[in-house]
Amino acid sequence: MIIAVDGPTASGKGTIARQLAAHFAVPYLDTGLLYRAVGRQVDLNGGDADSAADALAASDFDESLLDDPALRSEAVGSLASRVSVHPQVRAALNKRQVDFAHQPGGALLDGRDIGTVIAPDADVKLFITAPAEIRARRRHAEMVERGEQVAFETILSDTIARDERDTNRADAPLKAAQDALLLDTGDLTIGEAVQRAIALVNAQIRSR
Ligand code: DC
Repeated sequence: MIIAVDGPTASGKGTIARQLAAHFAVPYLDTGLLYRAVGRQVDLNGGDADSAADALAASDFDESLLDDPALRSEAVGSLASRVSVHPQVRAALNKRQVDFAHQPGGALLDGRDIGTVIAPDADVKLFITAPAEIRARRRHAEMVERGEQVAFETILSDTIARDERDTNRADAPLKAAQDALLLDTGDLTIGEAVQRAIALVNAQIRSR
């Protein structure tokens, strides 16, 4: 069984994806981490994330970077969004994700283009969303908890900028596959969102 989970930043898709993978006992890949590793590698190389050549060179990143806690930072998230615009970078990361999705026994992947590009044949596709203002509040609360001082307005405008870049890029933009099930987590606690996602997956499996 292949489960594809897509959606914008801070929609809750990461937490939902991890818990779904545990619930349905399938291996899990957070594909955003691959783009984050490229973004971080560009920085380490002293390159420019907006340069296709620099970003492509960084797509051959050091594997140990995937365990680097710095990948979770806002700065690296923004670099990831910038490098992910380049089709050459997407192509370089594609095979690894396609192979992971199609391993025997199934898999769950989360990202932006899993249901549309990486695994259009997925058995279940979820598109997780929430209003930008609510997603920005979540990111802001997480940062405050980590002790980072940042204005809510900065996070809101960054969230909107990231959505626009991810949605409007020409290659594999963020969008719901036609056959994706939509889950708006705006009014839900994370626990409720996970329960709703499990119910959606079960209903989809039963209907096949
Ligand atoms: O899910 P995330 O916040 O870790 O992703 C960081 C960036 O990586 C995101 O803004 C766009 C890019 N990305 C992508 O283009 N395609 C994916 N499948 C996953 C992430």
